[in-house]
Amino acid sequence: MGPADAGQDSTAIATAAAILEQGGLVAFPTETVYGLGADAENPAAVASIYQAKGRPLDHPVIVHLAPGADLDYWSDDIPGQARQLVAAFWPGPLTLILKRAARIPDAVSGGQDTVGLRCPSHPVAIALLRAFKGGKGGVAAPSANKFGNVSPTTAAHVRDEFDAECDSGFIGEVLDGGQSQVGIESTIVDLSRLATHGPVLLRPGHISAEQIGAVIGQLPAAPDAAAPRASGTLDAHYAPRTPVAMHSGDELACTLNRLLNAGHRVALIHYSDLPPASASVRLPETPDGYAHALYASLRTMDHVGAELILVEAPPSGPDWLGVNDRLRRAAFGSAGVLQRFLDE
Ligand code: TXA
Ligand code: MG
Repeated sequence: MGPADAGQDSTAIATAAAILEQGGLVAFPTETVYGLGADAENPAAVASIYQAKGRPLDHPVIVHLAPGADLDYWSDDIPGQARQLVAAFWPGPLTLILKRAARIPDAVSGGQDTVGLRCPSHPVAIALLRAFKGGKGGVAAPSANKFGNVSPTTAAHVRDEFDAECDSGFIGEVLDGGQSQVGIESTIVDLSRLATHGPVLLRPGHISAEQIGAVIGQLPAAPDAAAPRASGTLDAHYAPRTPVAMHSGDELACTLNRLLNAGHRVALIHYSDLPPASASVRLPETPDGYAHALYASLRTMDHVGAELILVEAPPSGPDWLGVNDRLRRAAFGSAGVLQRFLDE
């Protein structure tokens, strides 16, 4: 059995479920990105996710549920809109923020009175969630990367992030389910403050605000100042080590030429016709195709010895919201670098 099938091996699934039940950590594929999972009802297990990731303790993690799981076990207050969205989009890349039930450890919710719930559609994730506690448990899982880094979309990315933790057995198993189809993290919609704020889109993703609005009859709003904190909404996140700069089509070829002529090593991520750079990757000019390949491309370009990753700014528009959101965060803090090179 090849590496892409290994996760579907029922022995590997059973082993992984047992590790979770014993309080250990398991990395597993989802259709969005790979997750680093622990038993959501075991505070010590959840704490070890934070330790592995180097993540601040006040950041909540998403609880992953098997298809058909009992929502009432996890939340005390489930609005009709939540059930409508579950019926429309689960299993799938949509996370709902709801008022949390008392049984959910503080560690999962980062001390907030809400919980993020999602039922992933990846067959390996579903098999794991069905095997774990007979399908009645919840697996708390952030993306399987060190805090602030690009999320992993393959099992190899997970091992790159957590080499030492895997070797030492701190992460008990990495299930391999091939390359994540969607490629960017789930859409997050907050339904915990409906009466006062209506639905709020905390993180854009493959499922759009318009699709959500069509199901619940109200378009989710952009986050307000009082919206629940979400680490994926920090300005600097999803970032490679190499500085990232975005530039739009017209000026891009010219900028690229100037940088290369000045002797800079530039890695280019683009989708239209452009001259070659020190290293290049061309992505599809569709939001889905682009999102699918984006994180793997950022990782690859982070390892070619470039001084700068130059990204051709994708089109704007609602379909590109998720991609543009991730790129803006990847580029946050690098803005001055491009200018400095151009000023030299
Ligand atoms: O696609 C995904 O959502 C992936 C896969 C593994 O399921 N998971 C993921 O987890 O992206 P993470 O922890 O990297 O990002 C989850 C986001 C964070 O920004 C976190 O703050 C937010 O969800 N979140 C989780 N629970 C929340 C809550 N109760 N209130 C507000 N935000 C919450
Ligand atoms: Mg993450």
